[in-house]
Amino acid sequence: MLRSMSVGITNSNHAASIVRIAIVVGSTRPGRRAEMVAAWVERAGDGRSDAVFELVDIAAFGLPMLDEPVPAAIGDYRHPHTRAWSQTIERFDGYVFVTPEYNHSVPAALKNAIDFLYREWHDKAAGLVTYGTSGGIRAGEHLRLVLAEIKVACVRSHVTLSLGSDFEIADITEPGTFTPSGHQQAVLERLFDELVTWSRALRACRPSPARPLERFAAADQQTGPAGTAATTGGERRGR
Ligand SMILES: Cc1cc2nc3c(=O)[nH]c(=O)nc-3n(C[C@H](O)[C@H](O)[C@H](O)COP(=O)(O)O)c2cc1C
Repeated sequence: MLRSMSVGITNSNHAASIVRIAIVVGSTRPGRRAEMVAAWVERAGDGRSDAVFELVDIAAFGLPMLDEPVPAAIGDYRHPHTRAWSQTIERFDGYVFVTPEYNHSVPAALKNAIDFLYREWHDKAAGLVTYGTSGGIRAGEHLRLVLAEIKVACVRSHVTLSLGSDFEIADITEPGTFTPSGHQQAVLERLFDELVTWSRALRACRPSPARPLERFAAADQQTGPAGTAATTGGERRGR
């Protein structure tokens, strides 16, 4: 009896220690290489027992250029697309950003999606998987600065994929195939190890995960479906 109780406690401790990681797909371009890279990250994550991974595709949210009248730091979201994006990002303990380099930085779509929110990102961890002609290193360095402002702690390990050696591209107008060099898998595993540790540690810095969702539920009850909340002022979240 005692033994089965202790097994139960151990199992629930293990479940509680599993971190939720979003693989955020940073390119929204038709014909993007991002999908192949994100699928590789997801496959590598599948083998882990300390984290669950979920693809979060910015393109699926149909975000326009930032159209919220009130700064994200206030949390008074007027549009259903912002609320859907917020509820998704809020659910995770950490993120893997899969992003190409565009003009020495990240795609505007990724920066825009980050700018839509504020508190949802706070006190979380991130790992970077970048690609480009030079591994997307400059995009990654830019992204670290942006993420620091919204209190996302980036782990040191950084997967940098080169269009020359980690992809086979016969025709530059086509995505080609993704053929990561052998060492990239090891870097990704190290990134995961660091990300899981920091994502778990940063949980202690955040309020109970139930609270934000309760706030959304209360706002929806007052204002009806998410679509109508947009025009009635929606919720005001304490910051
Ligand atoms: C607008 C634009 C700007 C780019 N600028 C850079 C760059 O500054 N450095 C680089 O290494 N690659 C650059 N590239 C190449 C991209 O990194 C490469 O095409 C990558 O596959 C794009 O990612 P995606 O296919 O997932 O959209 C650029 C591509 C685009 C479309």
